[in-house]
Amino acid sequence: MCGIVGYIGTGSAKEIVLSGLKNLEYRGYDSAGIAINKKGKLLLRKESGELENLIAKTRKAEFDGNMGIGHTRWATHGSPIRENAHPHLSADGRIAIVHNGIIENYIELKNMLIKDHGIEFRSETDSEVIAQLIGVLYEGNLLDAVRAAVSRMRGAYAVGIICSEDPDTIIAVRKDAPLIAGIGEGCNYLASDIPAVLSYTRDIYVIENGEIVVITKDDIKIYDEDMTRIGREVMRVTWDATAADKGEYEDFMKKEIFEQPDGVRKTLGRRLTNDGEIKLDGIKLSKEEIDNIDRIYIVACGTAAHAGIQGVTLFEKFAKIPAEMDIASEFRYRNPLVNERTLCVCISQSGETSDTLEALREAKRKGARILSICNVVGSSVARESDDVMFTEAGPEIAVASTKAYTTQLVCLYLIALYMGRKKGTVPDEKYASLIAELRQTPDKIKEVLKTEKQIEKLAEQFYIKEQIFYIGRGMDVGTALEASLKLKEITYINSFAIGAGELKHGTIALVRNGTLFFVLATQDKLYEKMLSNIEEIKARKAHVVSIAKKGNSRVAKVSDEVIYIPECADDVTPLIAIVPMQLLAYHMAKLLKRNIDKPRNLAKSVTVE
Ligand code: M6R
Repeated sequence: MCGIVGYIGTGSAKEIVLSGLKNLEYRGYDSAGIAINKKGKLLLRKESGELENLIAKTRKAEFDGNMGIGHTRWATHGSPIRENAHPHLSADGRIAIVHNGIIENYIELKNMLIKDHGIEFRSETDSEVIAQLIGVLYEGNLLDAVRAAVSRMRGAYAVGIICSEDPDTIIAVRKDAPLIAGIGEGCNYLASDIPAVLSYTRDIYVIENGEIVVITKDDIKIYDEDMTRIGREVMRVTWDATAADKGEYEDFMKKEIFEQPDGVRKTLGRRLTNDGEIKLDGIKLSKEEIDNIDRIYIVACGTAAHAGIQGVTLFEKFAKIPAEMDIASEFRYRNPLVNERTLCVCISQSGETSDTLEALREAKRKGARILSICNVVGSSVARESDDVMFTEAGPEIAVASTKAYTTQLVCLYLIALYMGRKKGTVPDEKYASLIAELRQTPDKIKEVLKTEKQIEKLAEQFYIKEQIFYIGRGMDVGTALEASLKLKEITYINSFAIGAGELKHGTIALVRNGTLFFVLATQDKLYEKMLSNIEEIKARKAHVVSIAKKGNSRVAKVSDEVIYIPECADDVTPLIAIVPMQLLAYHMAKLLKRNIDKPRNLAKSVTVE
């Protein structure tokens, strides 16, 4: 998804902005551009395709200046051609803007600009109206023009603006799209995401909705909508920039799969005392408040929603509170029965997913308490929630989510058990054995990672398949859904996941000689049922690869192959059984020579609806 970078200081704006954009590559993009203010003149360059194209075209010294903005674009309105890339210029060439988000009333504004001001638009984008609007409103004071333009814009935006006549200022505005300002020495930065500035500074201001920022080389001033100056606390980024390096790995996805034992350990570690009690620092729910909750809605998208599916089981089982998982994009429009006794659990790796954020706001408007599970400190989801639990996964760069998923699961276990413990709905013995099981999961994930060679062999056998099914029961349904999503997003193989009991109600019609099934059979209490499901599809000549716990040997007799995971309690299998599935998807994508970290049509953080 789009990324914004801005720089003002004494260094080379071109170098710094381009390196910032490079650090945002993981968000996905299809074109890029920069605008540099050099001695009161705006120099603009935009290219479609790889950032390298832009870098090559801006090598010449003529692009050297000390202030500039840049953008990587992921096409929403208008195809990914150079004309549609940002920055966009006003008709008179004095204003340049970069924009993330969507201007919902852009057609209305565009018509007005054409009719009343005779503006000729150069692109098909909604973003160009911002440049043109500021251009016609500009009468010598950029800040006034920006404020007047913002008052007419509807939608979601983070915008960086420069003006040829004001070589000392970058102005930025934010509404429902992430934006930060980085604090340098004798220079300052603007960006949509922290990694863009991390090579230069660790001190940042998180810009809030409705705020206007005026950045000069020596100062960053933040104002609210009424132009009241705001004192903002500096946030010091503590995570390591090298976490965003591939290190010894070929791809970020592989690195992130192998980081899971560590991520799970860290996410657990901070919250478990030596005597096994759970301490949740960012969650302030008292016993009375927990007793008052009569319903939990979990809202999330994609992989986070699959973690949410497991969350439903955990909340109902341990906290004994009715829970539902809602896809965020549906929740926000279906008028759910939310009130003051509802706990809304939002799960989001990035904390910037537009659908999840809007679902959160909808639940808040209706009076729910918002508890979020998030990987990014300072993100919108984290800031707008009443309680937050951070996953300790470190930055996740690959578009396909892996370590965020397993650490989100850990948070769900801890929150559900914490609530159950407070309510007295988890017997002591059960609680103690689950905590012991959770503590062992990092080592068990490590054990699974050691089976990579076996999984690679299976990948060689199956990567040519055109269609793959995943089935399971109980907590294996969520794992099947997540495994299937992983496969399709990085291999582009059509895959389908379904509760095994549901097969005979329709989907079994698709099974014929050689149809490939990955069968999740990790739930002891549903093991017999799964064996029957395997028999059912084997009778129709399906090829079956089962995933089962060590020691369950009967599954080998009915399956073509078995991937074994270490013995563990049914309740914690989701944390372990997903790992071979991630590896399998990874190796199949590798054999298909896919762009694993940046699959086609996908972006890391989906900040538009
Ligand atoms: O940042 P979020 O967790 O809110 O993102 C939600 C989904 O967009 C994300 O999980 C997506 O499904 C991943 N590509 C899955 O691998």
